[in-house]
Amino acid sequence: MAHKIEVIDRDDEVEAEDGQDILNALLEGGVEWMHACGGFCNCTTCRVKVEEGMDNLSPREQDEENTLKRFQGEEVLEGPFRLSCQAKVYGDVKISEPEWF
Ligand code: FES
Repeated sequence: MAHKIEVIDRDDEVEAEDGQDILNALLEGGVEWMHACGGFCNCTTCRVKVEEGMDNLSPREQDEENTLKRFQGEEVLEGPFRLSCQAKVYGDVKISEPEWF
């Protein structure tokens, strides 16, 4: 079953297979998205702000939290931010590109 990822600040929309990560769904759907480390949880350039549907994503694992903290500081974990290469989609979500750095 496919889910919908809406990129609200770009007026774009792609479909994701159940369990597919956001980054792959974006790229397959023709939406350009930064991913400097190639999707290996080792940068934060693939970051997204989750505007709606956080509960429809896999929870953050330790690796993702560590990378977010290392590059962006501890407080980023309190916000609705995800690494798109790590967040798996299990329902519809709305995202945007965060404005940090
Ligand atoms: S592409 Fe580098 S952390 Fe996702």
